[in-house]
Parts: sequence; C-alpha cells; structure tokens
Amino acid sequence: MARVIKSERNRPYLIQVGGQNIAICACGLSKNKPYCDGTHKITRDEEESKIYAYDENRNKIVIQVLDEEGKTVDLPTEILPE
Ligand code: FES
Repeated sequence: MARVIKSERNRPYLIQVGGQNIAICACGLSKNKPYCDGTHKITRDEEESKIYAYDENRNKIVIQVLDEEGKTVDLPTEILPE
C-alpha cells in the first residue's frame, strides 16, 4: 500500500519536555518518527513551483504532469504549497 502525504514544512517543531529539547519531525521523512532525524535537510533545495516525492531510500523525485503531446502542464494551484 502506498500513501501520499503533503508536507510543506522543511524543519522540525522544537518542543521542551521536562527541561529537555525535543525535535519533532514535520517534514514527514524521518525514519525515527515522531522524532526528527535530520532527513529534512534534503528538502532545502526544493523549489516553490514544483512537487517532490521521496522513495524509501530518500531519493528525490520531481513530479511533472505532461499532456497527451508530452508537454509540461502547469500544476493546479490548489495542490501547490501556498
Ligand atoms: S523535520 Fe523531518 S526529519 Fe527533521
């Protein structure tokens, strides 16, 4: 089963519990959820107008939509990050 999760944040949420600082993953890519494992760093060069996916090895894939003639179609604005 596959699942697509939309996440626009590229850094963790930082919280304090019992005087200890804890980084909670907000990018969706950590292999140690709910904790941040630093994987969010691979999202820092993402461009606003594109959509990215990552495979299980954290390899980046740029999602591109083509029309029947193979030309790039602009992505609907409702699925792009604000
Ligand atoms: S915020 Fe997800 S790995 Fe750091």
